[in-house]
Amino acid sequence: MILDLTNIHPFLEEGQLEEIMAAAIPSLETVLNKSGPGSAYLGWMDIPEQEGFSLGGYTLSEIQEVAGELREKAATLVCIGIGGSYLGHRMVIEALQPITERILFAGQNIDANHLQHILDIIGNRKEVYLNPISKSGTTTEPGIAFRVLRKWLERRYGESGAAQRIIATTDSDSGALRQLADERGMRTFPVPDDVGGRYSVLTPVGLFPIAAAVVVISQLLQGAREAAARCKQKTTANPALQYAAVRAAMFKFGKAMELLSTFNGRINYFTEWWKQLAGESEGKDGKGLFPAAAVFSRDLHSLGQWIQDGPRNVFETFLIVEKSDHTILLEEDADNADDLNYLAGKSFDEINHKAYQGTAQAHTDGGVPNLTVSIESINEYTVGELIFFFEMAVAITGYQLDVNPFNQPGVEAYKTNMFRLLGKPEV
Ligand code: PA5
Repeated sequence: MILDLTNIHPFLEEGQLEEIMAAAIPSLETVLNKSGPGSAYLGWMDIPEQEGFSLGGYTLSEIQEVAGELREKAATLVCIGIGGSYLGHRMVIEALQPITERILFAGQNIDANHLQHILDIIGNRKEVYLNPISKSGTTTEPGIAFRVLRKWLERRYGESGAAQRIIATTDSDSGALRQLADERGMRTFPVPDDVGGRYSVLTPVGLFPIAAAVVVISQLLQGAREAAARCKQKTTANPALQYAAVRAAMFKFGKAMELLSTFNGRINYFTEWWKQLAGESEGKDGKGLFPAAAVFSRDLHSLGQWIQDGPRNVFETFLIVEKSDHTILLEEDADNADDLNYLAGKSFDEINHKAYQGTAQAHTDGGVPNLTVSIESINEYTVGELIFFFEMAVAITGYQLDVNPFNQPGVEAYKTNMFRLLGKPEV
């Protein structure tokens, strides 16, 4: 993974970037020393380096064993969760196994059509397992979806057959899901106490569904481990510190919005995961970058106009994949009726790269400071690297903005109203 800050320079004065980076060091130290607000939730930082990956009462081999059982039976797994209990594994699976049909996702909305669609699909599948994921065990959206799907499973397999096919990922001691799982004898994976939802993709929250989708989780962790070594350096050479420092500076310079732009469709869900990571960690106390995302070229033909010419309160982070898994070359055409022969012999990757370079230049010229995070190709290792890099950067930026990057008090407001409107009894 490479961080390129070339297109930030035109927007800064001589020597300013170095100052910005040096100013971020104390926030990096606050993260590393676990001395800031919310530091009880910094367990994610140590995960990649765990010897044998034995953490919070589970081991990697246990995850692989249960995932292997599903693979042997060619079972369909419905993952039921929202927010940090959904986006991480969805992002990794979409990036690395985009065509898998064996992993489905429910509980991230209250959309009857979506749930019925899942029920229709699993109605035609031979083996079905459920993976309800909720750290609190009390979140309404996944809770109601799980109840519907559990009832369906019980009708198909009977109560004990259903319990054998439910793997619950939840708090090791408390919450409604923990209680239900213990009462019914379901298998469980714990969510470590010291890891919050949006930082939990490399815990059983994400790793079990990811392993079930036949992604090599040891490589994912290896990538995160290598990134941790770079992103924990207490110097301005640390790429997470550099990125965090630029983000905090951009916010202070009035760039209230960060656009994460990619030219690769498989990164689409990565941007969704990042939006939650950044938005929920930093958007509080009247502060925080608004995290927006775009997938180009598609969005150059929708958001492109706004980015080029709209209010200049935005900066952009390009997330670039240099090489696709497939090489498609444009052929010469004798008639050249489409006037595209000038591209004959070029690969889609080459053309896509020029689209990126042209866009970065246009946005620089249009007053949008931009930087680029690039990886050679999408694989387990590089996705693991990106996960740790972005987690670390967001934690540092949070402390630079003087907020607690590990809580999310604002999420409660809609719940309180919804519960009142639904007549939820006092608990
Ligand atoms: O990052 C977070 O902590 C949140 O987004 C949670 O993951 C989300 O609200 C779901 O919570 P739970 O896992 O308790 O159901």
